[in-house]
Amino acid sequence: MDTLAILVAAGRGERLGASAPKAFVSVGGQTLLRRSASALARAGSVGALVAVVPAGCVEQARGDLAGVPKLLAVVEGGLRRQDSVLEGLKQAPDGFTGVVLVHDAARPFVDAAIVDEAAAAAAELGAAIPVVPITDTVKRVVDGLVVQTLDRSELFAAQTPQAVRFELLGRALEEAFRDGVTVTDEAAAVERLGGPVAVVDGHPRNRKITTPEDLAWAERLLAGEGAA
Ligand code: C5P
Repeated sequence: MDTLAILVAAGRGERLGASAPKAFVSVGGQTLLRRSASALARAGSVGALVAVVPAGCVEQARGDLAGVPKLLAVVEGGLRRQDSVLEGLKQAPDGFTGVVLVHDAARPFVDAAIVDEAAAAAAELGAAIPVVPITDTVKRVVDGLVVQTLDRSELFAAQTPQAVRFELLGRALEEAFRDGVTVTDEAAAVERLGGPVAVVDGHPRNRKITTPEDLAWAERLLAGEGAA
């Protein structure tokens, strides 16, 4: 196995307003967790898959993921996303030196091509993430007033999977932990070490399901495709 996928699903997903943790919310009759895991497993570059789920939900997740190929382990996550990723990293086989792909369970429509491209770019350069251009003009706002207009041509939204070589990711997350720094993605932890992070083309379909509007979009997408 030269690529290990870590599916982070341990968030509570409060912005979605559901009573269950977000990973167990269904879209088109299947949970976000199962859809995301199946999507990762379809990518040729993925050798094995670790799901990181909310405390107390391991058995439920194992049941939900029954039959998903390449599943290596289901473990409990931590307080922050980066703590959950560290829990996932502990499941890597002894002597593993390949690429780790960290993917949000909240992105169930990721395409295998994006997964494979991110893995290949990270194998070559150390780290790589999918991005999409930002189409709105972006402002910095302080105390209710615009203080700056950013150069849109340089701005991109980061998606997942975030691909980082195993040793580099471990070091980056441990240093962030030691320095008491919270990062919102793995690339930010690598950037702190000064390492390059390459970009590959993401896709609007690889959208993160965060709000009830996102969920409605996902249902429409699946209905339009005959509920895949
Ligand atoms: O909160 P945010 O939308 O950035 O979460 C992105 C992903 O990280 C989600 O799939 C969520 O389940 C996961 N996460 C996690 N452990 C946490 C917080 C978030 O696995 N403690």
